[in-house]
Amino acid sequence: MKGKIAVGPGDHIGPEIVAEGIKILKAISKKYGHEFELNYVDIGGVAIDKYGVPCPEESLKVCRECDAILFGAAGGPKWEYPKVKEDANTGVLNLRKEFGLFANLRPVKVFPSMVNCTPLKPEVVSGVDLIVLRENTGGAYFGQPKKMWQTKKERMAVDSMLYSEHEVERIHRVGFELARLRRKKLCSVDKANVLQVGKLWRVIAKELASEYPEVELEHAYVDACSMWLLKQPTDFDVIVMSNLFGDILSDEASVLAGSLGMAGSAQLAGSGTGGTMFGLYESSHGSAPKHTGKNDVNPIATILSVSYMLRYTYGLIKEAECIEQAIEKALQNYRTYDIMEEGKTKVGTKEMGDLIAEAINMV
Ligand code: IPM
Ligand code: MG
Repeated sequence: MKGKIAVGPGDHIGPEIVAEGIKILKAISKKYGHEFELNYVDIGGVAIDKYGVPCPEESLKVCRECDAILFGAAGGPKWEYPKVKEDANTGVLNLRKEFGLFANLRPVKVFPSMVNCTPLKPEVVSGVDLIVLRENTGGAYFGQPKKMWQTKKERMAVDSMLYSEHEVERIHRVGFELARLRRKKLCSVDKANVLQVGKLWRVIAKELASEYPEVELEHAYVDACSMWLLKQPTDFDVIVMSNLFGDILSDEASVLAGSLGMAGSAQLAGSGTGGTMFGLYESSHGSAPKHTGKNDVNPIATILSVSYMLRYTYGLIKEAECIEQAIEKALQNYRTYDIMEEGKTKVGTKEMGDLIAEAINMV
């Protein structure tokens, strides 16, 4: 098959991790006979330097002509408030909004060789296989009013956690659809005991449940959910939540798999279960300015994001699974610093990419 991908390396470690993602994509293309045209775009701080804005029309134009976007990471001290009008991070937020990518799938699957590599007991994390489904284009990230201002007395700021019915409904539908094809459990997370948005969230989830009788729906308050994620993570299958809660809990959940460096994402305008959908694929971590150029960060979050791209945009399930198996194979003996364990060999970003690429030809 032939595909067309927009590639935005972004800032700081972004280009380093994206290079490894592309290495893996090339290894897969070679093994299975696919062809992917790559179109590089500027998003984030690099775009601010070049065009004055983090998500310029020049880049959007290229993205619109592609099937998917592979993104590295955006941001850094040079492009933060109050130095710039629009933060470099806004680049990726704009992409989410521009392409209507309201569903952010952040899977957390514990690779068998990683069970001793988390702060939790191996019996707690063993077998964890869940998806944090984060609403991606609404809530506190985008709701109006959103501003900072000065009164006579002091400075004030407001963000609005605003949701409309259709936004809550469509993200829950994605949750039900994903759960239906998995272990048939959907946990809807809210703060219904305090927030109005939480009450709406809960009512709509309940109303939809009758349309998906095969899926078991449960509700959890976000504070309790953050506790259960550490205590009994294997209980979870698909967990759906608002934008801000999803930002927080997905970082927490990533540690179950060993490190935030293992957390990739698929950002879609639907459930992706049909396997041919435009998507934005990026690691869930940031641009880690202090690690720039050190060749030490973990590229697996980006490599997993490439596997999600093959699965959800191209419907290439075999290829996606091949990447996961190759990662497991590399992890058996080799580790980047963030997931280092006794008895394993420490490697850098490029070396980890090479090892996974080699393993692709062996699995
Ligand atoms: C994420 C990141 C972003 C977010 C930042 C970089 C804007 O933390 O993808 O989780 O908050 O969504
Ligand atoms: Mg985050």
